[in-house]
Amino acid sequence: MGQLDGKIALVTGAGRSVGLGIAQELAEAGASVAVNDLHPDRAEAARNQIKPAGGRVIAAAFDVASLAAVRAGVARVESQLGPIDILVNNAGIPEGIGATGPFVDSDPAQWHHNIDLNLYGSMYCIRTVLPGMAQRKWGRVIQISSGAGSRGVPQVSIYSAAKAGIEGLLRSVAIEMAQSGVTLNAIALGLMANTAERIGDSAYLQRIFSTIPMGRLGQPREIGACVVWLASEKAGYVTGQTIHINGGTVHGR
Ligand SMILES: NC(=O)c1ccc[n+]([C@@H]2O[C@H](COP(=O)([O-])OP(=O)(O)OC[C@H]3O[C@@H](n4cnc5c(N)ncnc54)[C@H](O)[C@@H]3O)[C@@H](O)[C@H]2O)c1
Repeated sequence: MGQLDGKIALVTGAGRSVGLGIAQELAEAGASVAVNDLHPDRAEAARNQIKPAGGRVIAAAFDVASLAAVRAGVARVESQLGPIDILVNNAGIPEGIGATGPFVDSDPAQWHHNIDLNLYGSMYCIRTVLPGMAQRKWGRVIQISSGAGSRGVPQVSIYSAAKAGIEGLLRSVAIEMAQSGVTLNAIALGLMANTAERIGDSAYLQRIFSTIPMGRLGQPREIGACVVWLASEKAGYVTGQTIHINGGTVHGR
């Protein structure tokens, strides 16, 4: 028996990388999993890759940055799998938008990409599933955040602002929901292996390695394992928290 047998999970941005690792771990723990992504082919490929341990796995392509799309997408997932018990807000890197450079040079017309996805997208998903969770007196919201939400990281200030914003929202909503059976927590990541592969700049990566006490990057499955724990009954007394998974980097050092 898996510890999440019978539970229904939606993981956003799960077509690859961190979200895929989270979806795999949830499915192996027995949950039925809806694999969301902006790209239907990515969501389908991820679904085919995930081996369920008891539940079902479906692809659920929609844009989390659109409230109408979220409402329709959640309704489709719930008609196929049942009411969502576990929401993992993982989608957080806007398509085609990397580091935005120094804030002083940034274009205000471009700020919305990060805010729309990380803040509004996450809020749309939470707002859509929360009433059902509260009514059923059980639910888990797990937000994937970044160390950039709580410490200064140059070149990504708009992303930092969005991650700090969503962590702030969770802390407040967690208190509002504290007696409802619904917990809301964030996991703030350090640099993950998948991103390092994309960066490819070895001097830059060497500098980052030197700030990570464990001297290595994070793996998606390691994030998934923490998500499974937060989603389980065992973590029922944990709410409103941000857990940092980053190989031991201590903020402020
Ligand atoms: N990778 C890292 O080093 C790192 C570090 C800190 C935090 N994070 C956080 O981890 C999460 C996942 O990052 P990743 O590196 O796996 O990203 P990724 O870009 O590799 O994968 C994210 C997936 O989300 C999908 N997506 C993008 N916009 C979407 C939208 N509007 N609706 C639905 N799906 C959408 C993409 O198509 C993609 O498949 C993000 O929240 C990110 O901020 C990552």
